[in-house]
Amino acid sequence: MAWDPGQYLAFAGPRMQPAVDLLARVHSENPATIVDLGCGPGNITPMLQQRWPDATITGVDNSDEMLARARDAVPGVDFINQDIFTWEPAQKFDLLFSNAALQWVKGHDVLFPKVMSLVAPGGVAAIQIPRNFEAPSHTLMTDVINAGPWRELLTPVRHDVPTQRPEYYYDLLSPLVKTLDIWETEYLQILDGENPVAEYTKGSWLMRFLSYLDEPWKSEFETDYRARVLKAYPQRADGKTLFPFRRQFILATL
Ligand SMILES: C[S@@+](CC[C@H](N)C(=O)[O-])C[C@H]1O[C@@H](n2cnc3c(N)ncnc32)[C@H](O)[C@@H]1O
Repeated sequence: MAWDPGQYLAFAGPRMQPAVDLLARVHSENPATIVDLGCGPGNITPMLQQRWPDATITGVDNSDEMLARARDAVPGVDFINQDIFTWEPAQKFDLLFSNAALQWVKGHDVLFPKVMSLVAPGGVAAIQIPRNFEAPSHTLMTDVINAGPWRELLTPVRHDVPTQRPEYYYDLLSPLVKTLDIWETEYLQILDGENPVAEYTKGSWLMRFLSYLDEPWKSEFETDYRARVLKAYPQRADGKTLFPFRRQFILATL
């Protein structure tokens, strides 16, 4: 799937707020090595650089488009193309930070223990994953899938959401770590524009389905989705659109 960093970063503010909030909960004194796992266009990496200017930071992603943007935007960081699931770095990291990336990787029963194994003893893992797949922004994609000629093609893709409930990560991770905090926040994202929820998801989850379609289905799918999502998230009298979005945080010390 080809990412479009411009479309993704059109909503940089609300997408980055969870990372700002998670970072405020990280109390690593002086990590020598940091990995930004699923670093995307490098939008989070400068926050890590500013807080720990002496650390060696590695950004990991498997999208060439995102990595190109990251390398342009953030000097002084080693951005590498690796699949999170199979990456075997030579060293462990004092801080592993991952914002809005691990929901893209299937098999959390294997992935999350593997991610924890990348952290050095005494180090910290700070992870945020969206858990908004039951909201209209996402269920309407399912409705569109079921309503069109692309149903057979897209149904297997639709079943791929790997994100689990907080209890799942507690059971999975508590035997592996020294301390574990898990919490959720529902952000009331206040967006500008004609149909901003459609624009927002087009930069991430919607794009996933569109990437499986050719024209004219691609445009037909998007048109149907945009009409439904506009009804579900109408503009308010002040021209703003409210897009509640639940996100799950996992903070562990190894
Ligand atoms: C929604 S973006 C998050 C970018 C950034 N961390 C942020 O907070 O805005 C998710 C990123 O995860 C990357 N990603 C998804 N699956 C991956 C995988 N298996 N290995 C490496 N990166 C992956 C995508 O390429 C994308 O850049």
